[in-house]
Amino acid sequence: MTHSAHPSIELPFSQACENNKGPILDVLLQAFSQSQHVLEIGSGTAQHAVHFARHLPHVLWQTSDQTDYIAGIIARCQQEGLALGLDNLRLPLMLDVTQPWPVKDIAKSIDAVFTANTLHIMSKTMVEAFFDGLSQLDNLSTLCIYGPFNYQGQFTSDSNRQFDAFLKLRDSQSGIRDIEWIIELAQQQRLSLNQDVAMPANNRVLHFKKA
Ligand SMILES: C[S@@+](CC[C@H](N)C(=O)[O-])C[C@H]1O[C@@H](n2cnc3c(N)ncnc32)[C@H](O)[C@@H]1O
Repeated sequence: MTHSAHPSIELPFSQACENNKGPILDVLLQAFSQSQHVLEIGSGTAQHAVHFARHLPHVLWQTSDQTDYIAGIIARCQQEGLALGLDNLRLPLMLDVTQPWPVKDIAKSIDAVFTANTLHIMSKTMVEAFFDGLSQLDNLSTLCIYGPFNYQGQFTSDSNRQFDAFLKLRDSQSGIRDIEWIIELAQQQRLSLNQDVAMPANNRVLHFKKA
């Protein structure tokens, strides 16, 4: 993530988000067509949140992330949310998947969860905590996960293999996850894989539905 100049305050910026938000939205338009209240885990720069709230006006989009990201998410939600007149974009919850989730007030209304580029950053224990945490959301029916995945232990491209090595150099607990493991963790939450959609740059959107 880099920082770019902005007329009001400097907002965190990811070129990857600019590139992938269109293809991801194409999937979410269908996957979240019946959803009303989406919790995003690891909103990052909030570029996805703004884009998806804008193009999914029937959905209330709840951002969240770890402490360090909160100020940037608030800044983008306030500046761009205001400029675009978005009344369906919610300021971030401070949510670390390994800590108690601050969702008491919304646990019953959240019916969908979205997360992008998080499961390969998190350790395996954190990924398990992410799926365990979903059990608090009584009415969860849809889960969409964007990112790179391995199939039967194999990288899908040389660039993903290099990316995995880069991640592990930075943090030995990070790494591209096996789709089979993610499907298993989702199934423990009664979420079944409905669609596995190829995205540009060797990424996927995994769309799970409550069985
Ligand atoms: C590579 S960034 C992706 C951000 C954004 N979703 C995107 O696609 O650009 C990884 C994100 O995972 C979040 N993350 C990592 N560990 C986490 C944890 N334990 N709980 C919640 N979020 C976590 C980070 O805070 C960060 O927002």
